[in-house]
Amino acid sequence: MIYMKKIGKEIIKLKDVFKYYRMGETIVKAVDGINISIKEGDFVAIMGPSGSGKSTSMNLVGSLDMPTKGRISLGGGDISELEESDLAQIRGKKIGFIFQSFNLIPNLSVKENVMLPMMFQGVEREEREEVAERLLEKVDLGNRGEHYPNQISGGEQQRVAIARALANDPEVILADEPTGNLDTKTGEKVMDFLKQLNKEGKTIIMVTHEPELAEAYAQKVYWLKDGKVEKITKKKNGFNLEKEERRLFGKKKRK
Ligand SMILES: Nc1ncnc2c1ncn2[C@@H]1O[C@H](COP(=O)(O)OP(=O)(O)OP(=O)(O)O)[C@@H](O)[C@H]1O
Ligand SMILES: [Mg+2]
Repeated sequence: MIYMKKIGKEIIKLKDVFKYYRMGETIVKAVDGINISIKEGDFVAIMGPSGSGKSTSMNLVGSLDMPTKGRISLGGGDISELEESDLAQIRGKKIGFIFQSFNLIPNLSVKENVMLPMMFQGVEREEREEVAERLLEKVDLGNRGEHYPNQISGGEQQRVAIARALANDPEVILADEPTGNLDTKTGEKVMDFLKQLNKEGKTIIMVTHEPELAEAYAQKVYWLKDGKVEKITKKKNGFNLEKEERRLFGKKKRK
């Protein structure tokens, strides 16, 4: 098979990034000097044991958080030089977020949840509605727009979250354990949507505990341990994630 996919330009780069937290007398080294490079069209997984810094790294990648030290660039520009309001604007436009716990707003309807990120970008109401309806169709929830989050299942809520993440047509989707609260079958459906989006050109970065998911979907895996990148594996070289995980972290693999 010929590898048709275009290898894109670098869109996110973390260079010697640290994130330390002070907890009384102790310093927690959540992220301890990592380098990450994400290219356009990548499907990247971040793996590692609980507490290894996956969510912290993800929040830094998505510029939801600022590093203690190091450089983070998004689309070629260094974000540490931006004002918070400019940063929020760029983040809202370029990045869509999906969380383990869905994070839908309970007192907004499904459709209003999807419309919300567009409001922050100043999109007119009529267009917000049109786009939200189209995106809900895309995740097979065209008939659920008027429901509220507590009236739909977990898998459906996560698909609403995917639609919401797509609202501003971002280049990058960040997903922190997107299937963590779903059963295997429902999780697969969510993953298939992410795979489809990647095929359509979106860059996907996903945190997961599950080697099978990384193996099935990601082209590149960053393995974190104690806030450091222990190893990077790429699918095209052929890797066996279960074996790698056992080698790096011992037998126990789930939290
Ligand atoms: N706001 C914070 N203040 C203090 N310590 C923090 C904070 N956020 C994270 N940490 C610590 O930093 C380390 C990395 O946390 P992080 O949430 O990134 O881990 P993780 O790999 O996502 O774990 P999990 O798989 O359990 O979600 C942990 O030891 C955690 O306790
Ligand atoms: Mg986490």
